[in-house]
Amino acid sequence: MRRILAENLVAADTVREFIADQEQKSLLRFLTCGSVDDGKSTLIGRLLSDTKQIFEDQLATLERDSKKHGTTGDDIDFALLVDGLEAEREQGITIDVAYRFFATPKRKFIVADTPGHEQYTRNMATGASTADLAIVLVDARQGVLRQTRRHSIIASLLGIRHVVLAVNKIDLVGFDSDVFARIVADYTEFAKDLGFLSIVPIPMSARFGDNVSRRSAQTGWYAGPTLIDHLETVAVDEASEQPLRFPVQYVNRPNLDFRGFAGTVASGSVAEGDVVVVAKSGKQSRVKRIVAQGGDLERAVEGQAVTIVLEDEVEVSRGNLLVAPEARPQIADQFAANLVWFDEQALLPGRSYILRTETDQANATVSDLKYRVNVNDFAQEAAKSLAMNEVGVVNISAQSPIAFDSFAENRTTGAFILIDRITNATVGAGMILHGLRRADNIHWQSLEVTKSARAAAKNQKPGVLWFTGLSGSGKSTIANLLEKKLHASGRHTYILDGDNVRHGLNRDLGFTDEDRVENIRRVAEVARLMVDAGLMVIVSFISPFRAERRMAREMMGEGEFMEVFVDTPFEECAARDPKGLYAKALGGEIKNFTGLDSPYERPENPEIHLQTLGKSPEEMVEILESWLSERDIADQQYDGGGI
Ligand code: ADX
Repeated sequence: MRRILAENLVAADTVREFIADQEQKSLLRFLTCGSVDDGKSTLIGRLLSDTKQIFEDQLATLERDSKKHGTTGDDIDFALLVDGLEAEREQGITIDVAYRFFATPKRKFIVADTPGHEQYTRNMATGASTADLAIVLVDARQGVLRQTRRHSIIASLLGIRHVVLAVNKIDLVGFDSDVFARIVADYTEFAKDLGFLSIVPIPMSARFGDNVSRRSAQTGWYAGPTLIDHLETVAVDEASEQPLRFPVQYVNRPNLDFRGFAGTVASGSVAEGDVVVVAKSGKQSRVKRIVAQGGDLERAVEGQAVTIVLEDEVEVSRGNLLVAPEARPQIADQFAANLVWFDEQALLPGRSYILRTETDQANATVSDLKYRVNVNDFAQEAAKSLAMNEVGVVNISAQSPIAFDSFAENRTTGAFILIDRITNATVGAGMILHGLRRADNIHWQSLEVTKSARAAAKNQKPGVLWFTGLSGSGKSTIANLLEKKLHASGRHTYILDGDNVRHGLNRDLGFTDEDRVENIRRVAEVARLMVDAGLMVIVSFISPFRAERRMAREMMGEGEFMEVFVDTPFEECAARDPKGLYAKALGGEIKNFTGLDSPYERPENPEIHLQTLGKSPEEMVEILESWLSERDIADQQYDGGGI
């Protein structure tokens, strides 16, 4: 997850240099999280300033800016130091992850400043994916809020085991020890099942520096460490001895004499002479050389970028994982996982997303949303989708097998992200729980009568004409006329019509987004079987979402999927209203009606675009027929061969 999620970690090289400079000190990565106004940026500004990371000229700028934008009168507003972007100042919120480096004589630190606004869980998860410790900020006047709980759960899911509960703005409640005690009790009770190894509560005022690096004179009742004291001494699990995981980023073959596999050791270590296994193929070899920038190494450890040369010519491609033979990862195309959803568009089970792990990439769907986690009381709630910032437990089904470990075993090879295939946005982060065995026992049966044999017997090219368009646009009428003609000329056809299929196979589905996704997934599967049977299939479904039409297209062979956009304007469909549904929908009797309160995403590149206004269904069918015959699709003569 580090590399894939932390795209914001552009400063990776800087981090490395920084680390090299201070090699002798241990490194603590942490993040700050909490609700919007809990004072994260102020705290980070305070940490940087108290550890003398601010240069004189920056201080001067800061003083000037504080007067212009700040919220602290003539004092320096430390939040401005951290909230670098002008836009953020305008909105008064932090909108991106900012990584800061600082050091004390005892330790060095990388802090991810992650935003607290409701919709920025994505950034929070980005920060958490690399952190060892989370500072959970709570405003002493507000106590533990929903956001505090949500962020704590996400931090826990992302593998963070140490928490500082920073009860901030303690000055604003008169340094009252009772307020502090109450918040600590609340939080401890809430967090008892989150698996944190340490929760250290500290009363502080980030603005005035109380208990940040300087022990406060006002909190005589508090005997614990200051924040800096604690950060300097907290023992986080040092990289424990994990088995080797080496994801191959590319195959380095500058000439015929050299073939090496370049990548970064994700966990464990590898030494010259070690036996390694290619995770997916199980092929073994021995490490001949470990080539690094400054020359060959005897051993490479976690975090080091090297090129590994093997003794044998085994097949290793980009995206493969070299692993220790005695501790192999799981390989499966189905697994259970915790999922945090980031996107404004809800997660829809059945929709195809791109799943990306440190090594693999595959199309994948959430085949089952088992439950959503209530962030207040951890209740497992039944849910059909996950909205932004929600957390759930899901089964994932990938189109091809991936190699992984459980997240509990390995934070790198146990993590994945989901990417929206239309917008390319990262929409979710997942932590793998375990592979699903059921996939192990189902194999493809090879059948001897093939698709091309069945097609040849029917003397036709099988394929799908996929009609999409609004309700009442004329899809069924045109489809029906076309089928009559194809049938009359001896074609073997079948129409899958939305209204009809919804009476049987899909009678359990309604018109919510998630039901429409499932509706199309099923009909696409049926269409694929029918194409396999050698038929010319006409699908006539509104199929309002690009993502699912694209999924259907990808399920068919090359040239087998023909998208037909039956383009009739909404007003015209409403005027025709063949089933009286528009009248009802406009009168508020039908919810989620396409084109009204449920979206229709127009095709961008349909094979055939039928503009029906002022044209008869017969004219539309002529266009279709000539299109088909130009491509030899509806001709009598079948030239054999699979499509
Ligand atoms: S799809 O959106 O999931 O592809 P489908 O084509 O199966 O829809 O079904 C659409 C048909 O269901 C419409 O032609 C119409 O007769 C009927 N229908 C009933 N309610 C709705 C609704 N809310 N939105 C659209 N169509 C509806």
